Amino acid sequence: MKDKISSINDLTLEDTKRIFKIATLKENIFSKFNEALNGKILGSIFLQPSTRTQLSFQSTFVRLGGTYIGFSDINHSRSGAPYYEPLDDMAKIVSLYCDIIVMRTINAQYTKDFLSECSVPFISAGSGNAEHPTQALTDLFTMQQVFGEDLSYLDVLIIGTPRQRTINSLVLGLSKWNEIKVHIICQPGIQFPSFVQENLSHPLYIDYFESVSTFLKHYDGQKIDVIYMDKLFSETNLYEGIELDEECLYQNFKKNVKIMHPLPRTKELPKRIDKHPGALYFMQAQNGIYVRAALFLSMLS
Ligand code: NCD
Repeated sequence: MKDKISSINDLTLEDTKRIFKIATLKENIFSKFNEALNGKILGSIFLQPSTRTQLSFQSTFVRLGGTYIGFSDINHSRSGAPYYEPLDDMAKIVSLYCDIIVMRTINAQYTKDFLSECSVPFISAGSGNAEHPTQALTDLFTMQQVFGEDLSYLDVLIIGTPRQRTINSLVLGLSKWNEIKVHIICQPGIQFPSFVQENLSHPLYIDYFESVSTFLKHYDGQKIDVIYMDKLFSETNLYEGIELDEECLYQNFKKNVKIMHPLPRTKELPKRIDKHPGALYFMQAQNGIYVRAALFLSMLS
């Protein structure tokens, strides 16, 4: 297995299977491996805000016997104002102090700069708008919990921007299986970036729609297995006005269609949907702990 994970494609299907086998132990991971990371230090370098990803990586590392140091804001380091220390210099230093580094950046180039001088194992916790490999692992694991190990033939409706790192990594991850269908509802004119289109493991059926109603005019909502959403792109103000309408959901989709979201949500996913029998997003957040624990164990022990 590679020791630098910045794309979901840095993990083979075999790696993924090994990680998921451990993750399936769920809470028992922490009793079985509670000393596995004794003496190890995680560098937790979050240069962009994070709730779930940051805290699940940290909590997991501690529960496996390790400790962590780090930042949750670029301005708490010398790479923020006023010195703007280059990230490759930061990487040289943090590599001296830690056994493994988890890093989130607001710009994918920052992750690349850091990686150029990072000499210890590395896991991206989200790089700009490029990729978020451990969210995709969490999403794929959650799908397997529901649909079984073989995700081939899954029919997924994505409501989000095909420029969001969660969506890029999910689509790359799904393409490790055969005959996946992806329909994406997004602002007109936007398509997956070329690095996604060029790195799919198997060809995917992908079509684009401007709204849920246009999608439903062209496709039978009953065929959809998963509705995958991400937050409105508020950080860049790219998109507004998409909301999963409760009535439309109950009328047009399977009764227990699975609804996934990496969270945090904004207006697109009203709280009313939480009682829908297929709402999986809090389970996703919980699975994030098991998947990240399994990833640490696979990389460090
Ligand atoms: C991410 C966030 O909001 O930053 N959420 C998550 O990791 N669970 C999603 C993202 O990376 O955009």
